[in-house]
Amino acid sequence: MFHTQILTLFPEFFTSPLQCSIPKRAIADAKVSVDCIQIRDFANNKHQKVDDAPYGGGPGMLMQVAPVVAAIREARQRQPNTHVVMLTPSGTLFNQQKALEYIEKDSITLLCGRYEGFDERIVDYVDEQLSLGEYVLSGGEPAAMCVLDAMIRLLPDVLGSPESAVLDSFTEQGLLDWPHYTRPEVFEGQTVPAVLLSGNHAKIEAWRKEQALLRSKQRKKRDL
Ligand code: ADE
Repeated sequence: MFHTQILTLFPEFFTSPLQCSIPKRAIADAKVSVDCIQIRDFANNKHQKVDDAPYGGGPGMLMQVAPVVAAIREARQRQPNTHVVMLTPSGTLFNQQKALEYIEKDSITLLCGRYEGFDERIVDYVDEQLSLGEYVLSGGEPAAMCVLDAMIRLLPDVLGSPESAVLDSFTEQGLLDWPHYTRPEVFEGQTVPAVLLSGNHAKIEAWRKEQALLRSKQRKKRDL
């Protein structure tokens, strides 16, 4: 079983997404465990405060170093070889390759921040800083959920058909998926490409590869 831990002020954020579809089944089948650690439990004051104003002034509040580091230590105690990932917009960008790398680790711990961010000294206690994309979320939780979902579906025997994993290895090379169609054959004048109805598997495979390449080239051009 692959062990994951989430350090968060909002464990309830994860309840619903983990009770749906593939993550739900993976947890039920003991392919993955997801354990939340409440950062607030490590506050060292009676009001359980975990945030404070930034030195030097400015808007917003920051996650304090002491409770976050104590929560990270608890995570490392529970899973001694865990790889601790801090979710932050200033981290390196997440992608499919990262998801594949993470599931090879013994365990992954995802650290979610709220407020304007983390006290910079926390960085010394994590193994990596990761961003979901070039935009600012109101907390690390939605980013952590995406990372978790991307990892879970890659775990052995989680996806229904073994072919899905083969398709993943295709996207892993940096290529996008090809276009898909299901019934009906015609919808408001739009038809399914004839090759997909031909029954010629070699031709279908060639068409799919060509379409994947074409899409990938178009995406690159658009993103330049
Ligand atoms: N926290 C806030 N914004 C984020 C982002 N884009 N990626 C990861 N963590 C975040």
